[in-house]
Amino acid sequence: MDSPRHPNCIAVLTLGFLVFTIATPVSAQPGASSEAPWMNAALSPDERAALVVKEMTLDEKISLLHGTGMEGLSPISPLATGSNGGAGYVVGIPRLGIPPIQMSDAAYGVRQSGVNGRYSTALPDDLAGAASWDLDAAYEYGALIGRELRAQGYNMSLGGGVNLAREPRNGRTFEYMGEDPILAGKMVGAVIKGVQAQHVIGDIKHYALNDQESGRNAVNVNIDKRSMREGDLLAFEIGLHESNAAAVMCSYNRVNGDFACENKYLLTDVLKKDWNFPGFVLSDWQATHSTAKASAAGLDHEEPGEIFFGDVMKSAVQSGQVPIAEVDDHVRRILRSMFACGVVDDPPQKGVVDVVGGFEVAQKIAEQSIVLLKNEKSQLPLDASRVRSLAVIGAHSDVGMISGGGSAQVDPPGGNAILPPGRGQTRWGEPVWFPTSPLKAIRTKVPGAAVQYAAGADIPAAAALAKTADVAIVFAYQWESEGMDLDSLSLAERQDDLIAQVAAANPHTIVVLETGSPVTMPWLNQVNSVVEVWYAGSRGAEALANVIFGDVNPSGKLPITFPKSDADLPHPTIVKPPRESTTAGEPDEWKRIAAGLPAFQITYDEKLKVGYKWYDAEKKPVLFPFGYGLSYTTYSYSNLKVTPGKSVHLSFTVKNTGKRAGAEVAEVYASLPASAGEPPKRLVGWSKVKLNAGESREVSVEVDPLYLSIFNTDQNSWQMLLGDYTFLVGGSSQSLPLKAALSPQ
Ligand code: BGC
Repeated sequence: MDSPRHPNCIAVLTLGFLVFTIATPVSAQPGASSEAPWMNAALSPDERAALVVKEMTLDEKISLLHGTGMEGLSPISPLATGSNGGAGYVVGIPRLGIPPIQMSDAAYGVRQSGVNGRYSTALPDDLAGAASWDLDAAYEYGALIGRELRAQGYNMSLGGGVNLAREPRNGRTFEYMGEDPILAGKMVGAVIKGVQAQHVIGDIKHYALNDQESGRNAVNVNIDKRSMREGDLLAFEIGLHESNAAAVMCSYNRVNGDFACENKYLLTDVLKKDWNFPGFVLSDWQATHSTAKASAAGLDHEEPGEIFFGDVMKSAVQSGQVPIAEVDDHVRRILRSMFACGVVDDPPQKGVVDVVGGFEVAQKIAEQSIVLLKNEKSQLPLDASRVRSLAVIGAHSDVGMISGGGSAQVDPPGGNAILPPGRGQTRWGEPVWFPTSPLKAIRTKVPGAAVQYAAGADIPAAAALAKTADVAIVFAYQWESEGMDLDSLSLAERQDDLIAQVAAANPHTIVVLETGSPVTMPWLNQVNSVVEVWYAGSRGAEALANVIFGDVNPSGKLPITFPKSDADLPHPTIVKPPRESTTAGEPDEWKRIAAGLPAFQITYDEKLKVGYKWYDAEKKPVLFPFGYGLSYTTYSYSNLKVTPGKSVHLSFTVKNTGKRAGAEVAEVYASLPASAGEPPKRLVGWSKVKLNAGESREVSVEVDPLYLSIFNTDQNSWQMLLGDYTFLVGGSSQSLPLKAALSPQ
């Protein structure tokens, strides 16, 4: 362990019963104030920040409390001259050796690289990352983003989305980590850890309950504290605990009456007090709605401008409305995060992005995240030596694969594949197809075969082509973006008809889904194979072809349930605001939003029953359950032992009973004592195990007592109840062959 006196993004977060510290050395850079006492890297980030705060004027303090505008969202502050072109820019204080903060969106890669004349790798989307259930892959995902941010001159990431999928039609589902707080929290934590290890400030967002885009600036989410703490907020709690993320972005919506960015319960009572979060809270873009109220509630920084935390804040301090101690705390938190993450001692240097290395990481993660949903008659993998003809159909699969839009959008290296050359720029609201061609990747695998393409718009023509081929591969997509939601989980644009008619024409039909959310599948019984590739990133086609032809054995598992129909969701229709609100850029619109749009209500009365917990409790059959995913081999489970202790220790044997090497995600669920009043079971741990054909291995999983606890709102604390706990182990939430009981004393 490195010396905690030289910390990198360190924090000591107490999480119930756990204490956690990460530390690596950083060294001071010579600069204008290299002699200043706070440049001594041997001091803790808190000590260093406190020394700086003492030297600052009120104007300097205020300058750290807000951004300086953003292109497209006027007015742009004259202070923004040094901006690197990212979503946020905070001026530095050269006199004190404090650099500016250059923020960029970076959900599945660095955004806006193209318009800034730079390059960035597009990884598979965040939900795909979660489908790998692989913490090392998640760390690599974040490390790549951190490296590319630095190479482009940024020192802060705006990634780390972890809103729980209460509403799977949310247009940002692809930016989040699914429906389970423990999986989502651990995976996002590993991503942010990877980002911060590159000396980039990491961020976790959107805190909290921004679970749909429709009316996000107005909606008031009604939810009880226990459901929040055990679900939505637990994902953040675990994510922060795992990563020591230095920043939290509060969200647009209201929660139980107050906007998230002026919500004392969320920002102070839970985040800063219960979780001892030492970093800073920044508002989502235009999500600040007040000065004194927001500041007192725990908001430290306004983005992207200075409506409330600039001159107005200064006057509020001068008139005594906002105590200077409060401002000092905001400033200290921002500075300590900068010191802790190494952005003062080791500022980013612009450099060349490792393009080839990025492609390799993107492909490897895509290969681990692809989920094989159905494989009747072992249709897959295809035997390249035996396929003579293939029909490739639909979803622009001749040239590209779809990506997720909004502020997460990565400019595709090589341009938007469906636009003429030179028109590759991304535009808000327009779907972008990454230039990774499934048709080409498939042709490369079977150079001797006739591989033909049909666009799919002409359904009879596509079916006719399918009829002539040995195998038909139909691609279907569902585009999602920030600022919109899906009306339904059904595929749009007659794609269900396309699949059904191709399947009627060819008994060897494979469906490839490029979606950011679950979809319904009225044609499921007609097709042999279904492969979910999510938004597969810059090297999606190569990854997919490797799975289709068996060079890669699929190992992804669903981080989100695929229900049978919208009618089975907790809210069969998505709740829309009386009139659409928008974050669109005009100053008048901005002011209107700042004033606070009239609230409309969503009540999450499903409470604790999010995702599989809902379907389990309501006994609703689903299409594909949480945690599910097939492989080209098979696994057996045996020999479960459960040993109580400080944490509960489980061991069991997983055997690869098939003929191919593979990786199995072995999942552990627990049922709590009946007195807990919980849904039937919850995920409490997992392990992804690589096994050669015939190999068996003893697998160990430690279950953190937090994961077996309930949140007692009367005592405002986690509580592990006495009674009978049942542990269930297997390969999906609905295939759990091993079972053991434990009664803690
Ligand atoms: C999004 C954030 C994003 C910010 C800056 C907002 O519209 O909700 O996720 O980080 O814009 O682009």
